[in-house]
Amino acid sequence: MTTLTWLDTAESTNAVVRNGNYRHGDAVATVNQTAGRGRIGRDWLELPGRGLALSLKVDPREIAVEMPLTLVPLVAGVALVDVLDAIAPEAPLWVKWPNDVYLGEHKVAGVLTELDESTGMVVGLGVNVSHSSEELPLDTATSLAVHGIHSDAKTLAEKWMGRFFELMDDTPRDARINHIRSRLGLIGEAVRVEMPDDSVISGTVTELVDTGALVVDNGTQRFTVFAGDVRTLRRRS
Ligand code: BTN
Repeated sequence: MTTLTWLDTAESTNAVVRNGNYRHGDAVATVNQTAGRGRIGRDWLELPGRGLALSLKVDPREIAVEMPLTLVPLVAGVALVDVLDAIAPEAPLWVKWPNDVYLGEHKVAGVLTELDESTGMVVGLGVNVSHSSEELPLDTATSLAVHGIHSDAKTLAEKWMGRFFELMDDTPRDARINHIRSRLGLIGEAVRVEMPDDSVISGTVTELVDTGALVVDNGTQRFTVFAGDVRTLRRRS
């Protein structure tokens, strides 16, 4: 069973779920997050009323045994792409491995997954919903509204949860990973990956393995990448 609780405001919905007494499938959301957190210690900036901030508790003991936890962030991004694709089939949506959702060349949503061995996992989703282009915090960002995709945050949140759990619980393993691969849009792309230790790998993405790691071939060597920032080397639209 899933529950979705709306808050008038929250500093960080991830912190609310992490510090509260929530069970698997419980989520909290707001359109007024005041101190959102992003990956790698970054801030996630929101404008009041313009973005969706949602955090979902996932108990690793409740998920399918054949489902690696490392796939959860990708499932979160793919679930959002699926929901948006149903509203706007022509929109150039894709998942930028491992945590972002893009519209063409601009980021429209991010996922922050936090795992604590004693309290479980929190999956945080931030979506730029109704910002005008002037209101966007960064020139690398976009919003659904800027692309003519109009959906209110509540509908989006409910649909995202439904699709997330469909992919997690009701989709066979091979179908799930193949669907993730199809939404990734990186296979065959030339990329530059900035690794967590600041080294850089440049090459072509050849594969997404079952655990969600990316295989990058630089012509002489194949690297299996578990974490890093990926830049595609050609313009996408
Ligand atoms: C990123 O792109 O760096 C990830 C951004 C994740 C933002 C979401 S908004 C809901 C949840 N609460 C937070 O404080 N962060 C995540």
